[in-house]
Amino acid sequence: MALESTDVLARIDAEKETYLEELKDYIRIPSISTDPEYAAEVSRAADFLVGKLREAGLTVEKIATQGHPLVYAEWLGAPGKPTVLFYGHYDVQPADPLSEWKNPPFEPTVEGDKLYARGATDDKGQSFAHVKGVAAMLKERGSLPVNVKFLVEGEEESGGESIDRYVREDGGKRLACDCLVISDSSMYAPGQPSLVYGLKGLAYMEIKVTGPARDLHSGTYGGGVANPLNALGHIIAQLQDRETGKIQIPGFYDDVRPLEAWEREEFAQLPFDEKEYCAELGLTETWGEQGYTVRERTWARPTCDVHGLYGGYQAKGAKTVLPSWCGAKVSMRLVPDQNPEKIARLFEDYVRSIAPHGVKVEVEYLHGGQAVGVSTEGPFVEAAMAAMEDVWGKRPVRVREGGSIPIVATFSDVLRVPVLLLGFGLNDDALHSPNEKFNISHFYNGIRAIARLLDRVGEVR
Ligand code: BES
Ligand code: MN
Ligand code: MN
Repeated sequence: MALESTDVLARIDAEKETYLEELKDYIRIPSISTDPEYAAEVSRAADFLVGKLREAGLTVEKIATQGHPLVYAEWLGAPGKPTVLFYGHYDVQPADPLSEWKNPPFEPTVEGDKLYARGATDDKGQSFAHVKGVAAMLKERGSLPVNVKFLVEGEEESGGESIDRYVREDGGKRLACDCLVISDSSMYAPGQPSLVYGLKGLAYMEIKVTGPARDLHSGTYGGGVANPLNALGHIIAQLQDRETGKIQIPGFYDDVRPLEAWEREEFAQLPFDEKEYCAELGLTETWGEQGYTVRERTWARPTCDVHGLYGGYQAKGAKTVLPSWCGAKVSMRLVPDQNPEKIARLFEDYVRSIAPHGVKVEVEYLHGGQAVGVSTEGPFVEAAMAAMEDVWGKRPVRVREGGSIPIVATFSDVLRVPVLLLGFGLNDDALHSPNEKFNISHFYNGIRAIARLLDRVGEVR
């Protein structure tokens, strides 16, 4: 009764506590990819993964890049059967602000069903479920019903340039496969699995404004010279219309693929309690582009957000300074078919056109990524939906997401295979925030879902 996966599910049940301990060890490695100080730790996380994949019985290679290493692994013992490529990332976001963590971020702490730590859900916990699903099956049966490959990167949180180059150079030779499986997103709600068919793209910008050669007394000089912070405020205020929420950059919406009627209908049918949403976030009302619901805006409409402002006096009390310089970090989340480079150009042109006199304004494009929309049909999508249903007892809903996984667009371009975005996380996992967590039951169900997926994909002809 291979298709019931009973044997492997029993194996997973018998060993799940061990898997959890292994995940904790993995999480203890602070693999923060953005901060060069942590490069050795990032490499150590790659080594850890190499060890686990090898132990599972795969052929593994740690691939050096110009940035952080890639981990590649394969088990190709099922000739004539489909090949599944698993993608994930072993790097994590920085843990700050440290003071807001209830427990140290890299000391995984269990409270009931929750495992708290940086990387618990994004993406160590979710992608380690791939490793353990495959490992459990290999241990139980000595073989898999499909071929598997893994490509796990250590730069997802910091631009992902190395994997992009690697996938493009490979051109689908070593990475040839029949479907791609990614678990780096969330389920729609507790108990409600989802199949994500859209991710947003991104264009990340920095604006730097320079004024006088040094900080000045604002009484002596105020009124005589332009203040860079005032100028920056003026620029930022014109990025969006306060009333309609529309982004004011000329041409910004030109290539936006409109929401389809069936999507608007399906989104509207998903349970969504705006009051609860506000309450959880400590808000009294939502805000965004006029004419669209919260779901439509977060999943399928492009947005523009300021992430940080620097410059001038930031410490306690009052200081009457007229700053010499300041800056802002701003990103735009994009939807199909917006092109990040084109959007970055439009942004720069617009910011220059509205820049006040008397200051120098520089605009830099830090990094970007293309939005993706993947098919919600076909035998592999069916297999994935069924595998999720097997485990959660509920058929997945089709959703989009506002987050970005830049390499997915490249995978789609180069490999041209179905992409299965099977998230095991929850929206309250606090990814990128203090007290990130992963529900342990979701970790276990993720492992089970992967085992079921392997058996179900093995039946695809
Ligand atoms: N796992 C997230 C992306 C994500 C979040 C997808 C929520 C679906 C739902 C990923 O690790 C991430 O944080 N991506 C960055 C990409 C950026 C650094 C280019 C993001 O979305 O900000
Ligand atoms: Mn992630
Ligand atoms: Mn992330």
